[in-house]
Amino acid sequence: MISVFGSRVGKEEIANVTAVMESQWMGFGGKVSEFEGLFAKRLGLEHFAMVDSGSNALYMAVTLLDLPPGSDVIVPAFTWVSCAQAVILAGHKPVFCDVELDTLNVSRATVEAAVTESTKAIMVVHFAGKPVDMDPILELGLPVIEDAAHAVDSSYYGRPCGGIGDVGIYSFDAVKNLTTGEGGGITARRAELIERAKILRYCGIGKSGFEAAASSAGGKSRWWEYNIQEPFIKMLPTNIAAAIGLAQLEKINDLQAYRKKIWDIYQSEFVDVSWIMRPPDAEKHEKHSYFTYVIRVPDRDKLAKYLFDADIYTTLRYHPLHLNSLYGSTASLKNCETLNEDSLSIPLHPNLTLDQVSLIVETIRKFPN
Ligand SMILES: Cc1ncc(COP(=O)(O)O)c(C=O)c1O
Repeated sequence: MISVFGSRVGKEEIANVTAVMESQWMGFGGKVSEFEGLFAKRLGLEHFAMVDSGSNALYMAVTLLDLPPGSDVIVPAFTWVSCAQAVILAGHKPVFCDVELDTLNVSRATVEAAVTESTKAIMVVHFAGKPVDMDPILELGLPVIEDAAHAVDSSYYGRPCGGIGDVGIYSFDAVKNLTTGEGGGITARRAELIERAKILRYCGIGKSGFEAAASSAGGKSRWWEYNIQEPFIKMLPTNIAAAIGLAQLEKINDLQAYRKKIWDIYQSEFVDVSWIMRPPDAEKHEKHSYFTYVIRVPDRDKLAKYLFDADIYTTLRYHPLHLNSLYGSTASLKNCETLNEDSLSIPLHPNLTLDQVSLIVETIRKFPN
């Protein structure tokens, strides 16, 4: 079965992980700081902290905004569940908004349709790595959380996706453009937010006596004591994850070029297939990350089954959140509901061979539509 998502790791990742294991320090440590520095440098982020998942980074991001308890936070309905869960776990209420049918992103119009007097923040998702049109959303004057889980290589007018709003997150899970196995990251415009994130991620513990001793002239005799500053869960990333990430950073340009190559093949091969609606390319002021290739087709379920029978796995990413009874939403979001019926992610990842890409194209072209 050809998989729909994937990452590529090789001997460099294995060597880095082996070195960490040989060092006998597998948990949080120096490799995390090294990864944080190099990741921030690549994207041009001033403040960045690694955590153990993108989902937890979202929870951290909402927490860092210090919104009044019970605030309404706008969340696109066409996204991963963690976006809504993060809002609820931080003590607030997700209010779902629609996305545009072409970009699969929120727009100023879809956000504004959901904004009320109780809205205290807006979450946006750069779907598939296609940048959200951020400036008109920032003009609404509300704090913005950017979910750049798909957008590690994306930019908008030269600004890195994730680093444009008040706070932004990345995911480094096993199928993301840059993987650390599991992992995530958080960035913010204000330095103090990331300083706080670095405390929160370790159960809200501030400096230990040992660290205080290292940074003060007189030292500290009881180095085992520490200050607990806030109640919070543990989100520490490991040296093992960071070591994988360091190898991935070395090859991200090649990985991205390969994703773009597959994307471009699909774009040109499907241009004359009248029943396929293709995703839009990046505009001049944008850089895309090509996380997933989503087509829209009239007979989606039949196409998915036909491809499954041909050993080509596809999926719908995502089942619209407002349709999930857990959230008790009464919203009617017609574009998300349309996408729920006609959109399909087809395979795009660096482990696909070009022969497999040709097979996927040929199989889709032969679909008896
Ligand atoms: C849009 C989006 N946000 C957040 C996440 C959560 O990231 P993680 O899997 O690292 O927890 C994902 C994961 O798929 C995602 O697609």
